[in-house]
Amino acid sequence: MPTILEAITGRSSKRSYLPIPLPKEIQEKILNAAAQTPSGANMQPWIVYAITNHEVLTNIGDAIIAKMNEGVAHDQFIQYYPVNWVNPYKKRRIATGVGLYTLMEVDRKDNEKRVKMWHDNFRWFGAQTVFFVFTDKANIEGAQGALIDCGAYMQSILLAAQEFGIDSCPQGSTTEFGKVVADILKTPDNLALLYSIVLGYADKDAKINSYQPQRVTLEESVIFID
Ligand SMILES: Cc1cc2nc3c(=O)[nH]c(=O)nc-3n(C[C@H](O)[C@H](O)[C@H](O)COP(=O)(O)O)c2cc1C
Repeated sequence: MPTILEAITGRSSKRSYLPIPLPKEIQEKILNAAAQTPSGANMQPWIVYAITNHEVLTNIGDAIIAKMNEGVAHDQFIQYYPVNWVNPYKKRRIATGVGLYTLMEVDRKDNEKRVKMWHDNFRWFGAQTVFFVFTDKANIEGAQGALIDCGAYMQSILLAAQEFGIDSCPQGSTTEFGKVVADILKTPDNLALLYSIVLGYADKDAKINSYQPQRVTLEESVIFID
């Protein structure tokens, strides 16, 4: 079993999965552990749709891809990525994308392949289980705290999954089409999709799963005041 540090440093996002569904019992264990995530005032602002139903996942993916094909850039509840990218974040974003496309030998100008790789998000990278994490709109009207809580909840899921040999990939790509997801799932009007997490058994032979983008040093991200 990995230590806590091994689980944190050993995790990476996987983007190709074997077609094996996640047993319900394991889903419940992961979600029970993640339920212990701290939140302001113990608000626990997360509401999860844990979906393994193949038809529902296909319908969500079809609807998002159809929207994209109509030329719609997003249909969302929250804006995840910065509206104005500034450095050093812009450079890091570009380096991460270039690293992935270089590994997969996708030419920068090969738009068709790049779009196909993005669409893979909505085919859940071949995984059979996806957790869609919502919050109540009231929690994020004029306040951002619930987003902090739900971000911590995300990491809890990613780490807890590892205990069961389950790999994962968080998805902001679905955030951008949150209203499409809500529409297909017919969620109550008060809910807003924040993100999804693909969970499953990574294909160990898939080249894409060897991708591990580097992190910046502490010098670039921490200010010690001793
Ligand atoms: C909130 C969030 C949204 C993300 N959205 C996507 C996504 O839509 N598609 C994807 O392939 N990866 C997505 N990622 C994965 C990041 O690209 C990845 O975490 C980052 O490059 C660091 O790599 P690692 O997770 O392998 O360590 C997302 C990660 C986070 C935390």
